[in-house]
Amino acid sequence: MAQHTVVTMPGDGIGRVVLPESLRVLDAVGFDAEYVHADIGWDLWTHEGNPLPRRTIDLLREHRLALFGAITSKPRKEAEAELSPELQGSGHVYFSPIVSTRQIFNLDVCIRPCRSFPGNPLNFIRRTADGACEEPSVDAIIFRQNTEGLYCGIEWTDPPAQVRQALALHEKYAPFADASGEDLALSVRMCTRKACRRILEAGFSYAEKHGYESVTICEKPNVLRETSGMMEEVAREVQEGHPDIRIRSTNIDAQMMWLTKNPEDYGVIVAGNLFGDIVSDAFAGLVGGLGFACSGNMGDEVAVFEPTHGSAPRYEHLDPPIMNPMAMILSATMLLDHVGEMDKADRVREAVADVVREGKVRSYDMMRLPGGPDVIARGAATTTQVTDAILQKLEA
Ligand code: NAI
Ligand code: MG
Repeated sequence: MAQHTVVTMPGDGIGRVVLPESLRVLDAVGFDAEYVHADIGWDLWTHEGNPLPRRTIDLLREHRLALFGAITSKPRKEAEAELSPELQGSGHVYFSPIVSTRQIFNLDVCIRPCRSFPGNPLNFIRRTADGACEEPSVDAIIFRQNTEGLYCGIEWTDPPAQVRQALALHEKYAPFADASGEDLALSVRMCTRKACRRILEAGFSYAEKHGYESVTICEKPNVLRETSGMMEEVAREVQEGHPDIRIRSTNIDAQMMWLTKNPEDYGVIVAGNLFGDIVSDAFAGLVGGLGFACSGNMGDEVAVFEPTHGSAPRYEHLDPPIMNPMAMILSATMLLDHVGEMDKADRVREAVADVVREGKVRSYDMMRLPGGPDVIARGAATTTQVTDAILQKLEA
């Protein structure tokens, strides 16, 4: 019997392309695992009216460790229009299956490392005062609260009368009271002290363990006084348990500016759900973009590892596939770290670093080509060739 069982959820689009590539790499480093396929995503929605079926939830509950590719998500009305005819008008409501997975299993700590690989032509560069170019090394790791905030799912268009009555208790509601029916939409930013504490603890503990001097809290407490204010308040409490780690506070808007000027100044960052999503995509852009952005969704019991990118439906039918598998492969290294196989994870990361540094095998994104069927003729490597190059380094 294998030492580990990993649930694999390729999902939609390029998720189905890149996930199998990560399994080839895990095999190559001798990761002793059995893989159990689980259905998730758009086909399930259109054919069963549920993008996250019970059988998938049960598999996750049983095995507690998963790799996820990507899903396709669409706004409510478009989603309903694509339901198979027999399900149309039957009251099925689309929801994002990955957001739901995070909520069902309380995968409230999302970790998104954004580290530059030397030699990547997509790395951030800037000019010095004397006109030379410099390429500071970026090593940011974003801890994103993954279940609450503006993604908590409590929203209405045309909110019910009771909700309007509750809002009317607030003095700031008056200017909105005139917007009637469908003309008013509302999304709630709901935050609990408990979840703030958990994401902050995760960030501070990581900083302590890995030698970072500070944790940057990236919120907007001067405007979002209650929710961002709570994160800041709890940060000060959590910091007391980690006296060697300094707190830095930045506002999300200012942070977006600073990271494009001095990305090397940032290490561990903690943010709420939406701001964490934004700031991690921004950092990903400085270290190669979505082809390199990996993540882990961690709960007390279940952990799901996935590339940050989506299903990129425009590219899913290209044959041979052209998408960069590195984000998925790096997500698999996070799974290895999580189960205590750090040596194997380091070997994979070194192999990826070698391939990037050498620059002989590059997917189209690394060549700065617009994606399309012609990129192979223009010298880009296929998805499989990128993985092959990584496997060769592992064998060397
Ligand atoms: P996307 O991440 O799928 O693609 C955006 C662009 O990033 C692509 O057009 C491509 O240029 C580039 N890209 C993405 N992955 C890449 C890779 N591995 N290698 C090279 N380049 C890559 O985001 P988009 O187009 O906004 O969304 C497409 C679908 O994916 C939507 O239905 C969206 O809802 C869904 N989505 C799902 C996510 C998830 O499953 N966690 C996350 C983000 C979007
Ligand atoms: Mg995102």
